[in-house]
Amino acid sequence: MFNRYWLLALACLSGGLFAGDHYAELGINAARAKFNYQMLCQGCHIPSGEGGAGVPNMKDQVGYFLHLPAGREYLVRVPGSANSALNDERLTELLNWGLLEFGGDSLAADWQPYSVAEVSAARQQPLYEVLEHRRLLADALRAQGYPLTD
Ligand code: HEC
Repeated sequence: MFNRYWLLALACLSGGLFAGDHYAELGINAARAKFNYQMLCQGCHIPSGEGGAGVPNMKDQVGYFLHLPAGREYLVRVPGSANSALNDERLTELLNWGLLEFGGDSLAADWQPYSVAEVSAARQQPLYEVLEHRRLLADALRAQGYPLTD
């Protein structure tokens, strides 16, 4: 077990070295965020963020949600985020990392990263009717011209 985690930690660290300056500029520890993603999220969301059966694709998509206030909150309020074992600081870091890592062209050049206060407040209202909520958001985003897929 110990060895496996060390290997993973090393892999994360070397990944972080090549991740570019975006992360550091935003105060994101990319190696730590990636490690948390691998431990807590990628079992469902898969390493590329593309999801799979019942799990939405975040790759080149997830940034669209930031165009609506309710969409910003949505990314924090989904159970996977809101109910995760991470504290507010680490969840904020993970979400900002995920937007940079998976957002691609869906992420506007002038996007605003999450603050800890914002994440802390939003996660206190976890979503229950998640899929219905997502469907309404997706409709609203498509109506504004953002090609969010299901
Ligand atoms: C047990 C599987 C599972 C795990 C683990 C999981 N998620 Fe999810 N995630 C889902 C599913 C399913 C959805 C679709 C909405 C829903 O039903 O909750 C989702 C949706 C999301 C979304 C919204 C994406 C979109 O396009 O609608 C985000 C953001 C997200 N998860 C973040 C996370 C983070 C961060 C973690 C780890 C801390 C995580 N999830 C762990 C299954 C999971």
